[in-house]
Amino acid sequence: MLTNPSKLALGVLLGGGFFAGFVFFVVFHFGMAATNSMDLCISCHEMDGVYEEYKKTPHYSNPSGVRATCADCHVPHGKTFPDWIDKFLAKLTIGSKDIYHHTIGTYDTKEKFKAARYEMAQHVIENMRKRDSKECRFCHSLEAMNIAEQGKSASRKHKRIMEEGGKTCIDCHTGIAHEEPEEPEEKEDDDKKE
Ligand code: HEC
Ligand code: HEC
Ligand code: HEC
Ligand code: HEC
Repeated sequence: MLTNPSKLALGVLLGGGFFAGFVFFVVFHFGMAATNSMDLCISCHEMDGVYEEYKKTPHYSNPSGVRATCADCHVPHGKTFPDWIDKFLAKLTIGSKDIYHHTIGTYDTKEKFKAARYEMAQHVIENMRKRDSKECRFCHSLEAMNIAEQGKSASRKHKRIMEEGGKTCIDCHTGIAHEEPEEPEEKEDDDKKE
């Protein structure tokens, strides 16, 4: 049976819960927005080469003056529930895994990072494929392409995927913002032995 004092306690608990939830929401929401800033990414990724390479590509600087930032390509966005889940998971990774490895210094030299790049790239590509290159499509769309103005091989390929589907942007367009890392040699040898 609920007595008045316990009702009060329940009220305090619920009220407190809502308040904590609200504070959590505000911190989390703005925290999420802050984690999208390119400065933050660069604060860790400046030395490892990915930023230097990106600065040489049209995604950093082009005649139209439209820039794709790290988060535009790497952090899932969109308005559906699955988008939200993907975004949350990506933020958790950047918020915890990246910081963890950074703190314990797993890849604290350029060499160590370089050795791990191939694996990371595969992981990134796999994630983009799973999302059907959705982040690319926030800026690019097949419908908006002036296919006639594209080169021969681009127009042929794009016409084909428009008609037949089956392929997604990242299947053909890796290495657009960084030099695509090569597969490590030992690994190739292992494959040959098998
Ligand atoms: C605190 C330092 C730090 C910050 C800030 C940071 N990173 Fe990282 N990042 C790392 C480290 C260390 C790794 C390698 C270990 C790992 O996979 O987490 C990494 C790995 C990655 C990878 C490869 C992950 C994979 O799938 O294997 C991507 C992509 C990436 N970071 C993008 C970003 C972007 C985009 C931002 C900004 C929104 C960012 N990082 C901010 C330290 C950081
Ligand atoms: C924030 C917007 C934006 C996002 C996100 C974006 N792009 Fe781009 N992309 C551009 C702009 C702007 C250009 C340069 C256009 C020009 O040349 O003026 C470009 C150029 C390109 C080019 C031609 C130049 C080159 O580097 O080969 C390809 C291919 C391309 N993007 C593919 C992709 C793919 C694949 C993704 C997703 C992984 C992607 N883009 C994400 C805006 C974006
Ligand atoms: C079957 C392979 C294939 C797929 C899938 C594909 N492309 Fe391409 N694309 C090409 C080829 C080949 C070129 C010409 C060479 C190059 O720029 O890499 C090209 C060129 C481009 C260019 C530069 C065009 C120019 O003339 O400046 C952009 C931008 C582009 N693709 C975006 C995309 C986007 C966005 C998607 C996903 C909706 C996509 N592509 C899917 C093969 C493909
Ligand atoms: C136009 C889209 C795009 C932009 C902008 C972009 N990346 Fe990437 N990134 C990719 C793709 C695609 C890969 C997968 C490997 C490849 O194709 O090069 C990748 C791979 C990576 C990796 C894995 C290691 C490697 O060498 O492949 C890291 C780390 C990374 N990006 C960090 C960043 C950071 C930090 C920024 C901003 C300074 C950034 N990226 C900007 C598309 C992008």
